[in-house]
Amino acid sequence: MADLDVLLRNDRYPRSAAYSARWMVDGAMGPNPVWHAEALAEVLPLESGMRVLDLGCGTALSSIFLAKEFDVEVWATDLWVQPHENLIRIAEADVENRVHPVFAEAHALPFAEGFFDALVSIGAYHYFGTDDLYLGYCSAFVKPGGWLGVVQPGLAEEYDVLPPPHLAPYWKWDFCAWHSPGWWRRHWEKTGLVTVELADRLPNGWQDWLQWNEVCDLANGTPDQEEARMLRADAGRALGLTRLVARRTT
Ligand SMILES: C[S@@+](CC[C@H](N)C(=O)[O-])C[C@H]1O[C@@H](n2cnc3c(N)ncnc32)[C@H](O)[C@@H]1O
Repeated sequence: MADLDVLLRNDRYPRSAAYSARWMVDGAMGPNPVWHAEALAEVLPLESGMRVLDLGCGTALSSIFLAKEFDVEVWATDLWVQPHENLIRIAEADVENRVHPVFAEAHALPFAEGFFDALVSIGAYHYFGTDDLYLGYCSAFVKPGGWLGVVQPGLAEEYDVLPPPHLAPYWKWDFCAWHSPGWWRRHWEKTGLVTVELADRLPNGWQDWLQWNEVCDLANGTPDQEEARMLRADAGRALGLTRLVARRTT
C-alpha cells in the first residue's frame, strides 16, 4: 500500500502534518478531527494555559492535538468512547498532564459554570446542539468573554426539501442535523448569549473530507465506501464542513 503519510499530505494543515497518518486513521470516527481542530485554531485564539472543553471528542485526537500545539489544558469529554481508552492514547502522546479524559453525556456535564476559556466541538455538536435551548446550557460552562468553536458536516444552504435529489441515493435520516453556516449563525445569535464572530464553510472542506475518507477506506482495506461516493457525486454542491466561532457575551 502507498505511504499513508504521503496520501494524507495536505498543505492546508501544516501543523497536522507532524502527526502520523496511521494514528489519525486508527482514531477515525468522522471527518479528520486533527485537521478540523487546526482549522478552528486559525480563527479561535488559543493561548498557553487556557482551559478547553473538547465536547464529543471521540478518540481525543483533537484534544491531544490542541494540547500539544497550543499548550492548552483540555477536558476530553465523550459519551461513546470510554475515558480509559482515551487515557491510553493521551499517555502515549505524552500529554497526561494536560488532557483529562471525561465520560459525560452532553446534557449532564460534570463541570463548574464559567470554568472554561473555550468550548470546542469537532464533528459532534450537531448530535445535540440543534436543540434551541442547548447553547444556553453548554455556554454556561464558558467564562463570559470566552470562546465557543465548532466544525462539523454541513450544507451549503438550507433546502426546502431534503435530501437534494442528487443526494437521495446516499441520504441517511440523521443528516437532517447538517446545517448551513447561516442556519447556525442564526441558531446561536437568536439566544442573545453569544456574539458569532465567524460562520463559514471551510475552504476546500469537501475536497479535504473526501481525501480523508479515501485514505481511511484504503487503509482499512475497504476502498470506495458510500460516504466517499456521496462526496464525489456531490462535488461540493451541498456538502461541506460548517465552521462556527463565537464569544460568550453574558
Ligand atoms: C462522529 S463522532 C466524532 C468524534 C470526534 N470529535 C471526531 O471528530 O472524530 C461524534 C461524537 O459525538 C459524541 N456524542 C454524540 N452524542 C453525544 C452526547 N449526547 N453527549 C456526549 N457526546 C456525544 C459521541 O460520543 C462521538 O464520539
